[in-house]
Amino acid sequence: MGHSEQGPSDEIRVKKTDILKDFQLFFFSMSRLASFPWTFLENDLQSNKSSEFISDILKQTCLHSLCRRFPPSVRYRRLFLSELIRRQEAGGCDPLDELYDALAEVVGAEDTTECYKSYLLPCGDAVSLSENVALISEGTTGLVTWEAALYLAEWALDHQQAFSGRTVLELGSGVGLTGITICRSCSPDRFVFSDCHPSVLQKLRANVQLNGLTEQKSPRVSVEELDWTAATEEQFRQIGADAVIAAENAGISHHVITGPVSHVFPYNRLSSIEMIKLYR
Ligand SMILES: C[S@@+](CC[C@H](N)C(=O)[O-])C[C@H]1O[C@@H](n2cnc3c(N)ncnc32)[C@H](O)[C@@H]1O
Repeated sequence: MGHSEQGPSDEIRVKKTDILKDFQLFFFSMSRLASFPWTFLENDLQSNKSSEFISDILKQTCLHSLCRRFPPSVRYRRLFLSELIRRQEAGGCDPLDELYDALAEVVGAEDTTECYKSYLLPCGDAVSLSENVALISEGTTGLVTWEAALYLAEWALDHQQAFSGRTVLELGSGVGLTGITICRSCSPDRFVFSDCHPSVLQKLRANVQLNGLTEQKSPRVSVEELDWTAATEEQFRQIGADAVIAAENAGISHHVITGPVSHVFPYNRLSSIEMIKLYR
């Protein structure tokens, strides 16, 4: 066999690495448990009756250093570990102490209303955000990342030139996923996050800081209170944006931009999301 040819064991190794990556991607963004690649794990357990792959999954999720710094919610970790244990027991392989130890850590812990979600970028970095567990809380939808924000971030990763060297204003930033991804990957000169809700602004400021973005270093970043229904020409002139973005339909005349985007983040692709270009 030549050097460039891959044998079946190489193929399985590559596949396992991809599946491990998916487990990590889904776990840290707290994706629905049903969306994990369980069938692959099931087949692996069936074929070799070893807990080794589960141990690898554990190392990439609950035992990963990112989980110590920015843990998904207690409830989510409890459900995830219970599911792993269920699969492992159904596969009839040797018990794995670290799996039960990890579960013991979260079984007694109190559920919280806040959690961390981490979104892994193609460059290997993670955008970690403090988010609320509930979709709507404190009278706002702005304390969680919405699928539209993930889609817009993916579009930005595919169209970095639209932001490079520019001053970008984001309306209704929410917890900040889109803007932080753009700051990390698209080299804007300046990025202005904005929102109108006090609790959202507080969380947004904390997340911007958490991700090491400041006014002092490039890109220069600020977080402003801005209500797009009440903002004045003068406010917009002062910001001096070359590009304005929003992962939110603000009812302005527009046209729909079509075309595929690279899949980077895990979310429901069947959601109805459109990329729209607005006109003044
Ligand atoms: C559905 S959330 C989307 C948040 C974020 N863009 C995302 O996709 O994850 C809508 C956001 O718009 C903000 N918002 C609603 N009305 C607004 C207004 N008139 N001016 C500025 N922000 C507004 C809310 O506070 C909230 O953060």
